[in-house]
Amino acid sequence: MPQHRILTGYRPTGKLHLGHWFGNLQNMLRLQNEYDAFYFVADWHALTSEWQDSSHIYDFGRDMVADWLAAGLDPERCTIYRQSDLPQVIELMLYMNMVLPMSWLERVPSYKEQQVNISNKDLSNVGFFLYPALMAADIAIARSDLVPVGEDQEPHLELTREIVRRFNTTFGADVLVEPKALIAKEGARVPGLDGRKMSKSYGNSIFITDPPEVMRQKAMACMTDPARKRKDDPGNPAICPLHQIHKLVGKAADIAEWEACCPAATCGCVAHKQQLADDLITYFADFQARRAELDAQPDRVDEVLEAGKEKVMPIARETIADCRAAIGLDGPAVG
Ligand code: TRP
Repeated sequence: MPQHRILTGYRPTGKLHLGHWFGNLQNMLRLQNEYDAFYFVADWHALTSEWQDSSHIYDFGRDMVADWLAAGLDPERCTIYRQSDLPQVIELMLYMNMVLPMSWLERVPSYKEQQVNISNKDLSNVGFFLYPALMAADIAIARSDLVPVGEDQEPHLELTREIVRRFNTTFGADVLVEPKALIAKEGARVPGLDGRKMSKSYGNSIFITDPPEVMRQKAMACMTDPARKRKDDPGNPAICPLHQIHKLVGKAADIAEWEACCPAATCGCVAHKQQLADDLITYFADFQARRAELDAQPDRVDEVLEAGKEKVMPIARETIADCRAAIGLDGPAVG
């Protein structure tokens, strides 16, 4: 049975935090064992919103790949590359743009939402408008048939499917592969230090590369059940951000113990914070040691990206050749 090819990309817009680690990276690790997996640095997508301050995109991308490798992505089992190393993506997007009505882009929900919600960036540019078209080209260029998506990316994938169908009916049946969504097992929702969703822009993140002393500081400042003002007030672990984070990194027996002693008011939040600090540091120790090794051999990331490019490039060339032939740019179709 031919193996499914899955593909997903991430925008290099900053350091990875616990939300990325538990929400995406654990999934990527699992999927590399089950599928022909393609993972790429979506630096052009980052550019669509970061174009006014693009100087960090390159380094964020390399750091993200170093994080992926240190976390256990294995370039022997998956293909890791950088979007901007693959110019064929742009050519395919151009062809897709021909069959893509502007109104389809205008009704993508994230488009208006982000323009309203993100006030510190200028998102009125055509580049950002084309974000979903670029994403459709990412997926189709590698002929991937499965895309692991969270809720937020589902409309983009649906649009990709519509563009692919329209392309195929316009230019010839089987040129592009229509991808299916691989609805990821709902990645853990990770609260930030203040109880809101963990997000770089909220300043409430624990980064996976935070040094141990920073992890400790952050754990000690983490919000707990706000109704529990004094140690002899009973607490509710289910609404305690500290406990939700602890559940991800702590030992099951300890977690059970906190769930019993906190509502009974027989243990205190300060001790819980200290244990979260210890457990965070222990949990990320191996990862951080491997990450430090990679920092000591900076060529490694570039080698991995180069090898990934070598793997994806022939596939991209073939897709483009098929498109050109189907459209008729190579002369009248034969037969
Ligand atoms: N839009 C995705 C995000 O914001 C990133 C992305 C770009 C992507 N191209 C893709 C995801 C192709 C899956 C497939 O996270």
